[in-house]
Amino acid sequence: MNFENILVDLTDHIAAIIINRPKKLNALNRDTISELSKAISQLEVDENIRVIIITGSGTKAFVAGADISEFADFDVAQGELLAKKGQETLFDLVESLSIPVIAAVNGFALGGGLELAMACHFRVASANAKMGLPEVSLGVIPGYGGTQRLPQLVGKGKAMEMIMTAGMMDADEAKKYGLVNHVVDIETLLPFCKEIAEKISRNSSTAISAAIKAVNANFEDGVNGFEVEVKEFGNCFGTEDFIEGTTAFLEKRKPNF
Ligand code: COA
Repeated sequence: MNFENILVDLTDHIAAIIINRPKKLNALNRDTISELSKAISQLEVDENIRVIIITGSGTKAFVAGADISEFADFDVAQGELLAKKGQETLFDLVESLSIPVIAAVNGFALGGGLELAMACHFRVASANAKMGLPEVSLGVIPGYGGTQRLPQLVGKGKAMEMIMTAGMMDADEAKKYGLVNHVVDIETLLPFCKEIAEKISRNSSTAISAAIKAVNANFEDGVNGFEVEVKEFGNCFGTEDFIEGTTAFLEKRKPNF
């Protein structure tokens, strides 16, 4: 995979996507969003890939936000379209991807950067990471899902405070609020995420896809998550992975998915 703004590293069943605009602290410009979307869509249909890790190049920033220079002169209609297109092209794609996506937050994750990390299925941060939604300091609000996903993760009151103050949370506080699952040294961030990814890739990928759908259903308006769970649970019984998983258990061996 050849891209200008991102690197894709494939090792066994794991794809690491590295956002690579270090001079701009990996800010998400239009091309980077489009490349991320393309790469993720291609990896989703690659049968060999079981987990995606998204991180930023260098040790300073995961992503320092949407690229401010690209929208500073937008009008109302362009602003709305920017948010809508971005959400559809990348953020919703990541959240509902059928394979797990882990954010390895290696420094500043601000604005669109934190929104990208929050669209991932879970997050691991390096000790130097700083996270926030500073959009109101620019006279705008988060537009890539931040007003919706931050309250889901940290609770409404803390999300309101973070958004209103435009403040940053350090890695330990982010862990305390459940925004990230783990905090590790920057040097061990990727190996640590790969270890988790390896654990995941030993399990049934069809069951994991079903679990993603069922968990996400909890947060969709007008959708009964329990009903989605029942349906997805039932569907699992028609898969080869179910036969292999249950047979392996009964034969006292490890499953080969
Ligand atoms: N969009 C466009 N460019 C950005 C950017 C963004 N979101 N964030 C950083 N950059 C650029 C800077 O303009 C600078 O470019 P230059 O060297 O060509 O001037 C470069 O990245 C380095 O950033 P700089 O601000 O010099 O680094 P710093 O260490 O002093 O500060 C931050 C780091 C993250 C605190 C600061 O860059 C910042 O506040 N960024 C914007 C965060 C934000 O508001 N994000 C939400 C956008 S909606």
